Amino acid sequence: MNPRATVIGWPVAHSRSPLIHSFWLRSLRLSGSYGKAAVAPEELATYLGQLSHAGIVGGNVTVPHKEAAAVLCHHLGETARRLGAVNTLWLEDGRLCGDNTDGLGFLAALDQDSPGWEGGGGCALVLGAGGAARAIVDALLARGMARVVVANRSLERAEKLAALLGDRRVQAVDLRTAESEARGADLLVNTTSAGMAGQDRLDFSLAALPDRAVVDDIVYVPRDTPLLREATARGLRTVGGLGMLLHQAVPGFERWFGVRPEVTPALRAMIEADIAGSA
Ligand code: ATR
Repeated sequence: MNPRATVIGWPVAHSRSPLIHSFWLRSLRLSGSYGKAAVAPEELATYLGQLSHAGIVGGNVTVPHKEAAAVLCHHLGETARRLGAVNTLWLEDGRLCGDNTDGLGFLAALDQDSPGWEGGGGCALVLGAGGAARAIVDALLARGMARVVVANRSLERAEKLAALLGDRRVQAVDLRTAESEARGADLLVNTTSAGMAGQDRLDFSLAALPDRAVVDDIVYVPRDTPLLREATARGLRTVGGLGMLLHQAVPGFERWFGVRPEVTPALRAMIEADIAGSA
């Protein structure tokens, strides 16, 4: 049997999931394949309804389908149910199932790249309130953070995120007044697209962060974002976004191909070379 998986997006050309999964298939000497499917929003339901007929065992879902795909699943894992969004799909007895591994990927990357970071009991300041922030705040709460401050340009969106998760440890603030929140933060996470190649730089000073703080930027192009450079200049520990991209892929691969893969330096180097080549 040659299991086939695919990433579904619109557009999807930018996705590095095929590179990641094909690397693991090759290095683990497994038979199977992982492709890309450009699926327009109005075709998503039909496409997902025919997955098993097309011989596909599952796959990843990326922008803009994460929420719509969650609605189309027969069964959702607990995380996906809380977040209302999926990034990983699989079939069980022909029925479409989904879960969200973005938060797991975020934590695994943080654990791998900044061992000993202040997990339970600390305070996190999360910049941004989009889909990625939702998964990350949820994961930080599950990890036992005592307080998670969500700072967003649009305060209303941060408040919506806090309301969705319904946990009193979450506080929504305006990004413009959030620098003072940095004083008590053990972890600062940028989930906004600011700092990404071709986008505005993030207008946020790290000056008030304590020396123990870890700065995590989930942007991975460029690898060295302005925020990470500022953190390094201050002598703070940093975590880049590539690890989250790689680690979120692990549970899906294990489900479709039956072996739990590892995030190795060789995998990182291969993706970094691809990013450098397409810059
Ligand atoms: P994703 O699903 O990747 O999280 P998204 O849902 O489009 O993406 O969310 C993007 C986030 O980046 C939002 O929090 C957005 O802030 P608004 O909700 O106020 O729009 C934030 N963002 C994008 N560009 C930004 C910038 N230049 N400065 C600050 N925040 C920015």
